[in-house]
Amino acid sequence: MGIVIAVISGKGGVGKTTATANLGLGIAINEKNCIVVDFDIGQRNLDMILGLENRVVYDLVQVMDGEAKLKQAIIKSKVNENLHFLAASQSKDKTVLESKKVKKLVAELRESYDYVILDSPAGIESGFEHTIEFADAAIIVVNPEVSSIRDADRAIGILDSKSQKVKNGEEVAKYLIINRISAEMVQSGEMLKSEDILNILNIKLLGKVPEDRGVIDASNQGKPVILNKKSYAGQAYTRIAGRLCGQKVDMKDIEISDTGLFKKLKGMFK
Ligand SMILES: Nc1ncnc2c1ncn2[C@@H]1O[C@H](COP(=O)(O)OP(=O)(O)OP(=O)(O)O)[C@@H](O)[C@H]1O
Ligand SMILES: [Mg+2]
Repeated sequence: MGIVIAVISGKGGVGKTTATANLGLGIAINEKNCIVVDFDIGQRNLDMILGLENRVVYDLVQVMDGEAKLKQAIIKSKVNENLHFLAASQSKDKTVLESKKVKKLVAELRESYDYVILDSPAGIESGFEHTIEFADAAIIVVNPEVSSIRDADRAIGILDSKSQKVKNGEEVAKYLIINRISAEMVQSGEMLKSEDILNILNIKLLGKVPEDRGVIDASNQGKPVILNKKSYAGQAYTRIAGRLCGQKVDMKDIEISDTGLFKKLKGMFK
């Protein structure tokens, strides 16, 4: 039986879909059977980041409604055979999801995959609630800014009250990814430090991902940045995927950069 992980944030646009695609691929690279599911009904982004938009024939709403078999709707990644993908419906909106149907789908996926990763829509409305409902764990993605932390805190509150696991008296595991860190801005005091964010949210840190232009380029090309060994964000996702697969990977302090003193020193010796 696999583990079901919801990727959530509260505030939109912080990097959930990017994280889902990269972690899914990272887990697959670690030889685990993984499926990433786009729960952002009506939007559909994950297929593009994975470069699979032309392969989508059936979506998860059609599967839930019995219009397509799960096997028909699941798409195999082009870059790794351990990675699979289930698309969101583009034509419907988030309100089409029903608990009973979500439960059945999640249960079926859990039987066939080691890791089931659900990409949540932005906000904390019904689409979000259905994504977290039957998850064993949640990855909360934040950017180092106040509005993102505040909305993540709200999302965690809902997670703790609406998740089925919590209702059953169990715990839902919570992991934090701090995304789009600029070492230069942290050092100049313009950006929140990880330490401060962790103090506020009080959940386990899964990893830190730097701001990296390569992410946008990779997404546009449909090749998740984790495939780019030179990219700092790609390296960060490799470390995080390793941790998710149970490896002991040291937390790299990406908030220290060769700016400030080091930059000055380098400048002096030019
Ligand atoms: N580490 C990063 N460095 C630079 N850009 C990034 C990084 N992570 C994500 N982005 C960019 O931020 C934008 C939003 O990312 P993404 O779509 O993954 O967010 P999201 O949380 O899924 O958004 P939504 O809430 O709308 O679903 C994208 O353009 C993406 O390429
Ligand atoms: Mg998204």
